[in-house]
Amino acid sequence: MAKASTAEFGVDAALDAAIAAAAGHVRGARHVVALTGAGLSVESGIPPFRGPGGLWTRYGEPPMDGYQRFLRDPRAAWQERLHPKAAWARALREALAAAKPNAGHLALAELERLGCCAALITQNVDDLHRQAGSRNLLEIHGNHRLLRCVECTARFAPEQIAVDPDDLPPRCPRCDGIVKDDTVHFGEPIPPDVLRRCYEEVGRADCMLVVGTSATVYPAAEFPLEMVRRGGCLIEINPDDTELTPAASLSLRGPGGDILERLLQHAVQAPEGSTR
Ligand code: OAD
Repeated sequence: MAKASTAEFGVDAALDAAIAAAAGHVRGARHVVALTGAGLSVESGIPPFRGPGGLWTRYGEPPMDGYQRFLRDPRAAWQERLHPKAAWARALREALAAAKPNAGHLALAELERLGCCAALITQNVDDLHRQAGSRNLLEIHGNHRLLRCVECTARFAPEQIAVDPDDLPPRCPRCDGIVKDDTVHFGEPIPPDVLRRCYEEVGRADCMLVVGTSATVYPAAEFPLEMVRRGGCLIEINPDDTELTPAASLSLRGPGGDILERLLQHAVQAPEGSTR
C-alpha cells in the first residue's frame, strides 16, 4: 500500500480536526437535527439524482407533474409502478432492492442512541435509515416500501393492501380513498403530518448535520437556512460545495459514510457539553 505523502497527511489532519470540532458541536448542542439526501446512500450503491452518475444526469428529469398524472390516471400509474418502463425507474428499483445501510446510516442511528441526534429528516425514500435503526425519522419524501392513501394519508405496509393487477388502483381499507405509493411524486404536496413534524424539529434545532444533499429541493433545502438565521450551527458533510456551503459553520469534505463514522468516534470520546 502506498504511504500518504506529508501533504496528504496534512489535508487529512486538517479534516480530522474539523471532524473533531463538529463532534464537539454535536455533543454540546441542545437539539441536533440531521438532514440527509441521496449522497448518503451513494456508498450503499444507490445513484444520486444530480451530478456525476446522477439519475437525472443520465436519463433526464422525469415530467414535473407526476402527481397530477397519477390523479388523472391512477390505473396507468400503478401499471408503471408494477412494471416500470422508464429507464431511470428501472435503475432505481434495482439499486433499491440491493442496497444495505452503510457506515453513515449506522453512525446516525448510533448518534441518536447516544442522545446526540434528536431527529433525522431524510429526503431519501430508500428505507436505509429505518434498517440502520434510526427511530425519530421523518421521511419527508416518503418511503418506497410503503403505500399511502391520498385521502386520509394512512400508511400501509405492502402486505396490508391487496394489489389486484386487474382492479387498479387499490383502495384504502379505512376510507376507500385511492392508494398510491408513499414516495412523494413531482408536483405532490409533502404529506402534512410529516411536514408539521419537520417544522417542529427544525424550530427546536440549534445544530444541524446536513449530509449528502445538493439542497436544491424545497422545503427541505430551507430547513438549515432557517436554523442558521436563528444562530444555529450548520455542519455540512459533502464531497462538493452546495448552495448551503456559504452558510455552514463547518464544511466536512468527503463521503458521508467515512466522515460520519469518524464524527461518531470523536463524539464518543468527547466530554459531554465540550463546546459549551
Ligand atoms: P442530489 O442528487 O440532488 O444531490 C446529492 C448530493 O450528494 C450532491 O451534493 C453530491 O455532491 C453529494 N454526494 C455525492 N456522493 C456523496 C457521498 N458519497 N457522500 C455524501 N455526499 C455525496 O440529491 P438530493 O439533494 O437528495 O426528490 O435530492 C433532493 C431530491 O431531489 C430527492 O429527494 C428527489 C429529487 O428530485 C423526490 O424524489 C421528491
